[in-house]
Parts: sequence; structure tokens; C-alpha cells
Amino acid sequence: MATKDLPDGIAILDFGGQYCHLIARRVRELNVYSEILPSDAQRADIEALNSVMNLKGIIFSGSPSSVKAQDALTLDPEILEMGVPVLGLCYGLQLLANMHGGRLEKAREYGVTKAYIDEPIGILEGLTSCEMVWMSHGDTVFEAPPGWKPLARTDRAPVAAMVHEEKQVWGLQWHPEVVHTEHGKEMLSNFVLKVCKAEPNWRPLDAVEEAVEKINSIVGDGRAIIALSGGVDSSVAAALAARALGGRLMAVHVDQGLMRMNESAGVYEAFKDRGLKLEVVDAKKRFLERLEGNIEPELKRKIIGEEFIRVFEEKAREFNADYLIQGTIYPDRIESGLTKNSDTIKTHHNVGGLPSTMEFKQVIDPLEDLYKDEVRGLGERLGLPKELVWRQPFPGPGLAVRIVGPVTEEKLEVLRRADAIVVEEVEKHEFSDGLWQYFAVLTDTKSTGVKGDERAYGYTVAVRIVESIDAMTANFSFAPWEVLERISNRIGNEITSVTRIVYDITHKPPSTIEWE
Ligand code: XMP
Repeated sequence: MATKDLPDGIAILDFGGQYCHLIARRVRELNVYSEILPSDAQRADIEALNSVMNLKGIIFSGSPSSVKAQDALTLDPEILEMGVPVLGLCYGLQLLANMHGGRLEKAREYGVTKAYIDEPIGILEGLTSCEMVWMSHGDTVFEAPPGWKPLARTDRAPVAAMVHEEKQVWGLQWHPEVVHTEHGKEMLSNFVLKVCKAEPNWRPLDAVEEAVEKINSIVGDGRAIIALSGGVDSSVAAALAARALGGRLMAVHVDQGLMRMNESAGVYEAFKDRGLKLEVVDAKKRFLERLEGNIEPELKRKIIGEEFIRVFEEKAREFNADYLIQGTIYPDRIESGLTKNSDTIKTHHNVGGLPSTMEFKQVIDPLEDLYKDEVRGLGERLGLPKELVWRQPFPGPGLAVRIVGPVTEEKLEVLRRADAIVVEEVEKHEFSDGLWQYFAVLTDTKSTGVKGDERAYGYTVAVRIVESIDAMTANFSFAPWEVLERISNRIGNEITSVTRIVYDITHKPPSTIEWE
């Protein structure tokens, strides 16, 4: 029974797919409330959501696993009998097909793919006969289950969309929630507003007020320190925390020796006059000592995560603070495998990289449910300078994850110089406006060169320039040749120990943005 005071809403079952949270965000962008539940939620758990919303529909997310695996995630079948429309995305579609006697086989599809829409009805209403959609799956539905109608296909997926019309259960093999699906928003809007008939009358809470309240409710009249790397996320988190705590907050910037050229000095300059207590800690020696000889990327990340905490603990003791505030955002959590069923892609230093014991009463992440573009929006509202809000992201583990293999002072110096050239040359050109990140990587491959008529045997530097909206997916940039040539000439001429420069032409997926 619908309750007038409650918003209409959609339940999302999380099977561990990388984009699950994005589905919730897209539904909320339609001004319809949404809640994410783990995939083992029972019908009663979903019914219980009716205390906060009028349940209008259910979406099943994608998953890193296969429906054919022995320990495959399943579904309480009662959920399909709740009388509200259901939409299965990717693994969600495969699960529906598998449960009802469809035929699945291994057939991989990856990236932007042409989908031929044979039946433009329901969630596909208003679409053209050929749509560009984002695929990322290994299992494929070859035959729809009896009683289900196939709606769309691709060159490799005979059933890329299907429906059980009577029960209003829909399935899409592709991901309408990612920006690469050209009309993804229309597909989700068709499902939420037309098929489920949800009223778009929900408005999100003010994000600044919400975050300030969250910090206040945890810290009370205590003290906190904020980990300020100087990147967008920690700067926005610092501005929010300063609003909440005023003089009971101290910002700590750790120079772990893995910074880009002039980075820490720049952070000090940007924040010294902003009414924030700020301390810059020179911790170069201890980080490099702990990293010495370690080549495994995940281990490097964990060492760095732990060492950061140890420095923060020391500073917190001096300031008498019990809480640590960080600028962790949602993609950091999902990549670190922190949501149930999701796979660990890489352990972000400030999430999975935290040590198991810490002196803090609690670590507070006021931005933990937000994406970078939302954080930037907050930063602008909080009046942070444009250069800071629109800075390219820089990972907490810094250049350590851009040096493949062991990190040494000498390699750091080579990389810093190469990176500064990439940044300088890219920023001279207007194409830099639309970029997410541009940087140099020091690979562990050496190669033969010729410098000044002499044989040289030196490092290979990779140049990475990517475009992205939320870092969940990214494309390498079609950077102008003349920019790449200038970068290559300068690195080759100015850094004696580099004999080869290559351009990284991999999207994410299959690569990640950082090399480690
Ligand atoms: P990947 O390499 O996973 O990176 O595609 C996605 C975005 O996250 C940044 N990144 C990190 N940021 N701590 C951070 O603060 C980390 O451990 C970390 N690892 C990656 C990366 O620069 C990119 O923008």
C-alpha cells in the first residue's frame, strides 16, 4: 500500500559488480529514491524497505562471477513474485535466464558494442534500431527461457535484452548506468518512470549539510586531524571538516617522498592562508626505508597505507585528537573490494590499505558515497579555488605506483623529471581541458638507444593521458601527435638515463589508470 509521505523508490540488489553504486546514483538523478541491498537479501528484507519508501521496482546489478560457477550467487526466487517490475543488468540478466531455463554459453564482449534493437518496447522505447552500448561480460544468453521475449541482440550475443511481459521482468546484457552507453539514461528512465511508474518527486539532502552533520555527530566536542594530500578529495573533505570543527581540526600533509615535483610546497602554499591549522610532515626517509626491495604492487600499497596511519597517529597524539578524517570517495572503496561480492582490483591506500589496528577511535570518510564529479561540485560550492577543484587526481601512494618494481631515490628523480615534462607540455595545449589525468610512468623495461653517437642502455618511460568522468572507466586520449612528439623529444633529450618513450593506448577496462 503506497504511503503518501514516503518517496517512491527502487531497490537494487548488489551482486558485486563494479557499477552497482552507479545504478543507484542514476536512479537518484531521476529524482527517485533508491537503496542498495546485498544480493542475499530475502523477499522480507526488500518488503522492509517500505518503511522508508514506496517500493516500485527492483534492479539486479552485474557481478564479477559467473552464473555457471559452483558457488554462483543466486536469488531468493520469491523476489520475482513481489508484484513490482524487475530489471536484471548483465549478471542480473544471466541469472534470470539461468533460473528460467534459458541457454547460456561463454562468449566474451567487451567495450562499446553495437546492439540491434528488434523490439523497441518498454525499457527500450524510443531507441533507434542500432544503439551503442557498454558491454563487459564473459557469459552470454544464447536462447531466452520459454515464455520470455528477446528484444535485442549484438553480433556476439543473440539475446542481449529480453522480457517476461506478464511478470514485467526485464533484462539487459549491457550496462545502461555507464556513460559509454549512449542512451543509458533513457533506458533507466524508461524502466523507473514508465515501467515502474515511480513518481520523480524525491530530492536529495543538501550534501554539504549532510557531511557537516555527519562529522559533528561523530566527533562531538572532540578533536580530529584530516589527512590532506592536497588533491581534490582531501581538500574538499578538509573544507567540510573545517566547517564542522573549526579550531578543533588540524590538517596534516605527509610528504612521503613519493610526490611529484614541488608538490608538497604547492600544498603548503595553497592552504597556508585558509584559516586551517596545517602541518607538513617530512616523512621521506621512513617511507623509502619501508618500501625498500618491495616489488609487489599490493604490498607496496599496504606498506604505504600503514605508514601514513603511523604518521597520523603521532600527530594526533600531539594534537590530542581521537579521530582521523580522510577524503576517500566511492570508487576507492569499490576498487578496494570493500562492498560485499565485489572483487579487489587494487587496494587504495586509504581504504583496504589501512592497518588492522589503529589508535583512532574512528576513521571518518565524509565523501565515501560520492564520485569525483560530485566532490568537485561540492568543492565549487564551498568556494575552493578552481585550480584546486579541477586539479588532476594524484594517488595517495604517489609515484610508488608509477614506478614498476622497486622504488629507489634515483628512479623517483627520473620519474619526477619525466612527469614534469608531460604535465608542462600537456597543459600548454588546450586539449588538456577535457582530460582526467596525464602523467609519466617508469617501467621496469630497459632498452637500447643511441645518444650522441654512443650506445645507451636506459629506462623506458610510458606516457599515460586519459579521459574519464568518474575513474570507473577511462579512455586513453587521442592526444595531438605534436604534443606527444614534444614530450618524447624533451624526455629523450633532457633525461640521459631514458632511452625509450612509449604512449599507453589502453582504455580502462581492460587496464586501470595507474600501472600498479
Ligand atoms: P585506477 O588506477 O584504479 O585509478 O584506475 C582510479 C583513480 O584512483 C586513483 N588512485 C588512487 N587514489 N589512493 C588514492 O588516493 C590510491 O591508493 C589510489 N589508487 C589509484 C588514480 O590516480 C585514478 O584517478
